[in-house]
This record gives sequence, structure tokens and C-alpha cells, in this order.
Amino acid sequence: MRFSDAALLLGAALAIPLATAIPIQDSPRQRLLDGHGLPAKYRKSKAAPAPAPPYTPGYRDPYDSAVDATGKHLNPLPYRNGLGASVLGPWNKARAREDPDLVRPPSTDHGNMPNLRWSFVDSHIRIEEGGWTRQTTMRELPASIELAGVNMRLDKDVIRELHWHKEAEWGYVLAGEVRVTALDYEGGNFIDDLGQGDLWYFPSGMPHSLQGLGENGTEFLLIFDDGNFSEESTFLLTDWLAHTPKSVISENFDLPPEIFAHIPQSEKYIFKGSQPGSIAEERPHGKYVKKSKSQFTHRMLEQEPRITTGGKVRVTDSRNFPISKTVAAAHLDINPGAIREMHWHPNADEWSFFIRGRARVTVFAAEGTARTFDYQAGDVGVVPRNMGHFIENIGDEPLEVLELFRADEFRDFSLFQWLGETPQRMVVDTLFQNDKADGERFLKEIKNAQKDEIRAGKSEEETDL
Ligand SMILES: *[C@@H]1O[C@H](CO)[C@@H](O)[C@H](O)[C@H]1NC(C)=O
Ligand SMILES: *[C@@H]1O[C@H](CO)[C@@H](O)[C@H](O)[C@H]1NC(C)=O
Repeated sequence: MRFSDAALLLGAALAIPLATAIPIQDSPRQRLLDGHGLPAKYRKSKAAPAPAPPYTPGYRDPYDSAVDATGKHLNPLPYRNGLGASVLGPWNKARAREDPDLVRPPSTDHGNMPNLRWSFVDSHIRIEEGGWTRQTTMRELPASIELAGVNMRLDKDVIRELHWHKEAEWGYVLAGEVRVTALDYEGGNFIDDLGQGDLWYFPSGMPHSLQGLGENGTEFLLIFDDGNFSEESTFLLTDWLAHTPKSVISENFDLPPEIFAHIPQSEKYIFKGSQPGSIAEERPHGKYVKKSKSQFTHRMLEQEPRITTGGKVRVTDSRNFPISKTVAAAHLDINPGAIREMHWHPNADEWSFFIRGRARVTVFAAEGTARTFDYQAGDVGVVPRNMGHFIENIGDEPLEVLELFRADEFRDFSLFQWLGETPQRMVVDTLFQNDKADGERFLKEIKNAQKDEIRAGKSEEETDL
């Protein structure tokens, strides 16, 4: 019997409203779970009794497998392995569906751990002429201590005005095209056009501007190397001039003050500009103008990816993008059913931005403390440095994530690799002292362990006992 048939029968038997209990579609992951609600590899017999649907009193899963509540349009309820009860009070179903592992945490979650999830849709949006911007900082997500993020949209020809700030800025183009301009510390000017998957980095205090190009302009993610950053407190050209005596502006530019009678009286921030020409046409041509010798942009998605068994990894940090001294990044493509393996980062907190797909992450904080969060496109996650974690693709589409760090280099430790590089006796004594047979199987698996950042899900055939 297929899972959905079983669910129908059981749903009817238990008089559960079908819309809440029936998955809309079958996915490879759900087929894996088909059976006792356990991964197929642990099933003893194919003739096992039909499982109860997730989030019903009869559902049993001592192995805490993920359930893609959003993808399957399920309504998570707090039932777990015979415990729990229905909900009588008010209940935000949409939020519960986004966070199934908060509604029914894995039985391994324990202790007090601060919130490590935020969605950009919960951020205030500042709407301007031809664009908008919203931020996720320490004020939205208190764990966002080391980095802050801004999601900004500039329509065709729309300008994020000439400005600077004390934080360094790292930017990743999510869609469309954008022109960036800047002046470097040596007085060299920089100008480049970027598309999806390209990025830029402007060190602290460097003046710069952005403009949407092409038919629909652009949307991008900005990262600042201070979680307390505020996009409201950047230094803007218009704001400065609006608050400088006209006599001084006149003196500074050696022109009569009337020239400046009509300059903006307050900041412009984001506004519609005129259509820019090509870079060659727009490049400043003055006698003393010089081109920057530095490279402030990088084509991240054009990098040759590291191919792992379950997806692709691209790392961009000061080793291949030398200017990026304070932000290191990894771009991950995690296949359906695959997992960003159990690991930790020794040198910085992780700030993740989910571009596509749905994920489950459990963060382990020592002292018996662990908490699980779910993420989807547009969400932000934080994992404090050294805390063990994984990123599991729980949906049926590829999961695309950016991992960002306030660091010059990307660094991680793989649990799998560590155990493979540890004396086998030590590993068996620690994990399998009273279970030598399973210890042997485990040793065989880790014997030739290599770092495999994204591990493929095992197929049923490979793993049947
Ligand atoms: C611009 O947006 C419109 C409307 O969403 C879309 O049909 C069109 O394909 C887009 N153009 C480009 C170049 O992406
Ligand atoms: C964050 O910035 C605000 C405003 O500048 C300041 O009052 C506050 O002390 C800062 N907090 C931290 C933790 O740096």
C-alpha cells in the first residue's frame, strides 16, 4: 500500500480532516519514509503495518526523520511518539507549517537555546522611488552579532545613491543586473557590471554607488561585517551636503553658492536615475583620473565547484578574492535527499541565507543543548562558531544556500573526516564499547573517510539490511 492510500484509510478511521493529514504529493524522501515512518533502511519487512500520517496521535518515529510540512501542505501538531495533545487555543497554521521542528521538535532537542532563525518577510521594508530595502540585523535576530544582512531591490536605472559606511560591504546579486562604482584607498576608481551569482566587496569607508540595469533592474543581498549595522545610518552624499553651509560648499568646489541653490535638501537614498551608457562611455575621463588596481568584484557562480556526493560547493574568500578580508562565503547546492554533513566552523559564526528550497538544521551548543530550526527561501539562520550542525534538504527541489562568515578564510571541521582520522580503537571504545559488531560496520564506513561537505542520501538498495 502506498503511503497516501494508508493515510486515507487512517485519516478516515481517525476522522481526521483529510486536508490536514494527507500529503499532496509523493517525493523521494517520503517514499524513503514510507513504512513505519522510519527510513526504509531500518525496516525489517516490507509487509509492515500501514503507518499513521505525521502529526497524528498514532504516528511513531523514534528516529526523528524530517517532515516537509510546507511541501506536503501538512498542518504540524504537537504529537510525538505517543505523547502530546491537540491544540485548543489560537494557532497560526501558516507559521506552524514553516517551522514543523519547532511544533514537534526532534526528541533529541534539549535545553535553552536562543532563536537562530529569521525571515526577511518579517523585516520592515523601506519603500522608495523604484526600489525597496529591508534588513536583518542584531535588532531583528539577536544572534546576528557578527554580520548583518540587507535585501535590496533597484528597478531599471534606479540608483542607490553615492554613500559610504564604517562597515565593509559584501554583496551578492540574486537576480538581474547591477552597475557598481567605487573609489579605492589610493584614489583609483572602479566600475563594473554584475549579474546573478556575481559579488562585490568594498572595504570599510570606501565610497560607492549601485544602479539597476537591464529590463528589470536587480535584487541583491548585502552583508556588513557588524551585526549592529543599520542601513539607516550610512553616510550619504545628499545628506552631507544638505547639512553643510552653502558658503562652505561654495568654497570647497570653488564655485558661486547660487550653483548649489537647488541641490536636494534631504537624503535621496534610492531614486530613479537616467539610463546609464556602457562602462567605456561612463568611465570618468579627467586629467588626474586613474583606474583602481584592485579587483572589487568576483564571479562566484563561474567558479569551478567542488563536486561532492550530494551537491556542489563554491568557496569565495581572501584566497581567491583577495580584497575580501572580512567576509568569507560558501555557496551550496544541496540535492534533494542530501545533507550538508555534520560539521562546525572554528573561526566565525555562520550567517546563512536560504535562496531556494527547504531545510532542517539542528544546532548543538554543548552541555546537552540542541535545537532544531526549519528554513526556506528568504530566511536567515545563524550558527554560533564551534557549534556542531548540519543542513538537511527536506524538500523535493534543490536547496541553495549562502553561508557567510566574518573571516578572511572559510574553515570547517567535518565530523566524518575527523573520525576517519582518529585511531579506530578510540572511536570504537567511545561509541560502540558494548556493541562490537555494529562498531565493525561503523569502522568500515569511516575507514576511508574524506571530507564530503554535501553527502548524498543513500538509496534503498544500497542500505537494505
Ligand atoms: C522582466 O520582468 C518581466 C515581468 O516579470 C518578465 O516577463 C521578463 O522576462 C523580465 N525580463 C528579464 C530580462 O528578466
Ligand atoms: C548598537 O548600536 C546602537 C546605536 O548606535 C548602540 O546604542 C548600541 O550600544 C550598539 N550595540 C552593540 C551591542 O554594539
